Amino acid sequence: MKYIVANWKAHKTLEESQGWLKVFLQKMNASNEVLQNLEYDKLQIIIAPPLPFLQPILEKIHGYKNVCLAAQNISDKDDGSFTGEVTAHILAGLVRYALVGHSERRSIYAEGKEIIELKIQQAKKYNIEPILCIRNKQDHEDNNAQFVAYEPVEAIGTGNNYSIENVQEFKTSLELPSDNVFLYGGSVDSQNAPLYLREGDVQGLLVGSSSLDPDEFFKIIVSV
Ligand code: PGA
Repeated sequence: MKYIVANWKAHKTLEESQGWLKVFLQKMNASNEVLQNLEYDKLQIIIAPPLPFLQPILEKIHGYKNVCLAAQNISDKDDGSFTGEVTAHILAGLVRYALVGHSERRSIYAEGKEIIELKIQQAKKYNIEPILCIRNKQDHEDNNAQFVAYEPVEAIGTGNNYSIENVQEFKTSLELPSDNVFLYGGSVDSQNAPLYLREGDVQGLLVGSSSLDPDEFFKIIVSV
């Protein structure tokens, strides 16, 4: 199985997100290869839109096997008096995954290992699979999850994707258990996606900028 995640970050209006989905689903429905990959568990498409669009998107993807949603973030708290927080309990039933520890959360919102650990625990408590984003080995030593997304800071949003050799070397250094799922993210686009996907070491991609355009994102999907 290859996992391809679209991380829209703080982009798109409701109307734009619906337009994206319309184009994307049209392309998907027209591709027997993609539909078969989904059907036979070779491909899983995970869309991480802004939180308010989870429900409307869920209604449209309902019924497609292996097309599902992720939260870009999750609260470290359980339900309670936490104005503005969106807890794992609230998200349960909407999302299958949650990104945890994205480098933007770590650097802009000062999220450290204790908060990240609480988020991982909250996600698991409500049967949401945390995707732990790590910038380096230290981040992985501090926290752990079955899904690990390696996103070197220098590669995020810069156009300087890490070479497959560097990514493979990094993965080897982590000594992951065999049931772990290792993703790469950082300036992935339709040109470089096949380089990662044809190597067995990388089981998926976390795509930011290139996921905003449904045509470009679909090209990445096709390369699985
Ligand atoms: P990018 O972002 O693809 O724009 O580099 C990836 C990410 O931050 O998840």
